[in-house]
Amino acid sequence: MIAPYTFQPKGRLLDFMRQAGNPELINLAAGLPSVHCVPKAGLERAFAVALAENGDEALGYHVPDGDVRLRELWAERFSRRGIRISADQMVITTGCSQGLHGMIRLLAAPGDVVACEAPAYYATLEIMGDLGVRVLPIPVRDSEGIDFDIVQSLFRRFRPKLFVVCSTLSNPSGATIPNDVRKQLVELCRETGTRILEDEIYGELSEVADLQPIRAFDDGSVVSYVTSFSKTVAPGVRVGVCLPGPDSNPFALYKCQQDMHSATLCEVALRRYLERGELDTHLEFLRRFNRERRELALRVIREHFPETARVWEPAGGFLLWVELPPTIRLEKVYQEGLRRKITFGQGTAFYTSEARPGIRLNCSRPSEGELVQGLQTLGELLRR
Ligand SMILES: Cc1ncc(COP(=O)(O)O)c(C=O)c1O
Repeated sequence: MIAPYTFQPKGRLLDFMRQAGNPELINLAAGLPSVHCVPKAGLERAFAVALAENGDEALGYHVPDGDVRLRELWAERFSRRGIRISADQMVITTGCSQGLHGMIRLLAAPGDVVACEAPAYYATLEIMGDLGVRVLPIPVRDSEGIDFDIVQSLFRRFRPKLFVVCSTLSNPSGATIPNDVRKQLVELCRETGTRILEDEIYGELSEVADLQPIRAFDDGSVVSYVTSFSKTVAPGVRVGVCLPGPDSNPFALYKCQQDMHSATLCEVALRRYLERGELDTHLEFLRRFNRERRELALRVIREHFPETARVWEPAGGFLLWVELPPTIRLEKVYQEGLRRKITFGQGTAFYTSEARPGIRLNCSRPSEGELVQGLQTLGELLRR
């Protein structure tokens, strides 16, 4: 029976993030794209131009809401995907993480019921545990995400204050909710008084034609939206954006109290990068790169993993979710993997409630050779 529970903060986020930097491991666990997916030449140019031509501005303080021109450029991108928004309704954030933390904190009080997918992005769970909200786990059914009938009955019963959802290429499941369900979700949440916090950090990596963010089916009265350039440009620039809703001031104040504003130099450089119009070409490259890597990984998995393993094929991105039979002792496989210098994302880290065994695999970060070798070894360990 599904019911709200309190996620105990475990502080594992710190371990995960530190492990991501260990060069000795074939890292199938990390949630970040390959270093080859960062447009280094374009960014080198953009940072140089930002310093040469906008130096005074780029090295000074600016408004907490972030660079206006960057917000305008982002608004133009949003309009192509059906979100109508102006610069003054947006706040630039230090990564998507800051938007997630700030919005959950502003929209839910300790003890409130907050729904989120199961499995869910680990840091979101940790934030929720830290803020003392009660988590209502919504099972992700398959690569098309949640089952709307289940959501409907749970929302009518528990009336969650907030629903945090990674709508497109969810982490870790890779699931993408189809447009018609997105629309239904907005209507349902209007009825149950639930605010949606849409995390669409993988949105522009989607390979589904005409997919629109949930926010596009709303005017901002039900849906708040966060994303960043971490998966499409570079995680290290730490530039994200939050569309808080009808009033962006409470979020802007939260942000101002946290870090005054995000790094001006990074914002101005990204603005210069976007102004050159290079991001769309780069996104085409990323989608192709990710598709090729996924296809390679799927071939190796089919050949080497036990037949009982079920891969959810995502419609884009670089993360693969593999469901395993309950008989698998995943912790043992994980420890044996580490001994053989391979690490993967353990499903238990992402689950809000009872674990259905599953693993998350990153097929972008390792080299092709490492990916094949890592998956073959993992297959061997799973078959034992
Ligand atoms: C679903 C999801 N949301 C947010 C984040 C954090 O994004 P950022 O690095 O921009 O803070 C990640 C990073 O892995 C993620 O997968």
